[in-house]
Amino acid sequence: MDLIATAAFGLEGVVKQELQDLGFDAKAEQGGARFESDLTGAFKANLWLACADRVLWILGEQKVTSFEALFDFVSSIPFEDILPKDASFPVNGNCVRSRLMSVSDCQRIAKKAIVERLKRTCKVNWFPETGARYPFTITLHKDIARLTLDTSGEALHRRGYRTWVGEAPLRETLAAALIRLSPWTPEQTLVDPCCGSGTLLIEAAFMAMDRASGLNRSFIMEDWAQTDLAACQRLREQAKQLFMPDAQFEIFGSDISSEALSLCRRHLRQANLQNRIRIAQSDLKDFRLARDKICFITNPPYGERLGDRQEAARVARALGDLKRAHPGAALCAITADQSFEKHARCRAGSRRRLYNGRLECEFLVMKGDC
Ligand SMILES: C[S@@+](CC[C@H](N)C(=O)[O-])C[C@H]1O[C@@H](n2cnc3c(N)ncnc32)[C@H](O)[C@@H]1O
Repeated sequence: MDLIATAAFGLEGVVKQELQDLGFDAKAEQGGARFESDLTGAFKANLWLACADRVLWILGEQKVTSFEALFDFVSSIPFEDILPKDASFPVNGNCVRSRLMSVSDCQRIAKKAIVERLKRTCKVNWFPETGARYPFTITLHKDIARLTLDTSGEALHRRGYRTWVGEAPLRETLAAALIRLSPWTPEQTLVDPCCGSGTLLIEAAFMAMDRASGLNRSFIMEDWAQTDLAACQRLREQAKQLFMPDAQFEIFGSDISSEALSLCRRHLRQANLQNRIRIAQSDLKDFRLARDKICFITNPPYGERLGDRQEAARVARALGDLKRAHPGAALCAITADQSFEKHARCRAGSRRRLYNGRLECEFLVMKGDC
């Protein structure tokens, strides 16, 4: 099977690395990282990937520039080998810079092609669609049509611990990627001084504990007849064995807002980390910590979605001061504010362009002296 673990712009390489660490031969491409495996491999990827959005099975890819060609392409795929008689098979669509740009028409034609193929090959005329869900997506990108089947179901950022959404929270998958892109290792103290609802803190702890991101959730492919559930169960058991709830690490969070902190407290409880991560209310300009090796990783207000520009500039300045007050500490920040380094009076040694939702950002890593 051809599979792709989809990823937000800028995170394709991180997901490729995660797949390689899981033993897959993966290649990054725009929108994700591709690999070959079977359904059990797809399950393993769903279970472990921390930074990917979904794991999709690529059923076919072909250049198409007319609706007839789209119909022929989709109906050439052997759906009779994939779908049980009662399967429900919704078709989503997505068209980018292609001759065929009507999403609803592409969806309708792809659905019709699946139905016609099944009518012909299974000799049935009626599809009750009352059984397991097989969600397809037809994507057209620069005239290349791709039909995929989603093996994840709910997007992978839904780990199960975040039920209350704070102001401008970071998606779990992006938070996990920032931790991996930072120089932090669990021997150092990690501090998020603008921790909000705690996503960075929780994802860092999960990484330190080698906890599979999907340990406490299920995936849509587990409802499918062709999935080897016993093999999946073995992978889940292995992941439970590898999970180290007592792993050593020191992670702190602080925030100026008491509402953000009460949300954070709930999330820590739901992630069962309430006794492992300490949080406190503090304006970051007053935050000081007597430790040798500190890595600050944070998602401060940008002045776009939260607060105003002046406030964002004040926070950036305070973050620069925080780094200077902790000699040897690294400061890593995701920001959409292009003046962040100027306000912090500190230059990043490395930077990566990525998106937080629709907002173009940079992840800045400042390791040396400012
Ligand atoms: C973009 S949000 C962080 C969201 C967080 N990453 C999450 O996933 O929920 C920015 C946070 O910075 C906090 N903040 C703003 N100014 C601050 C200051 N001077 N000191 C400490 N925290 C501050 C806000 O209360 C807010 O929770």
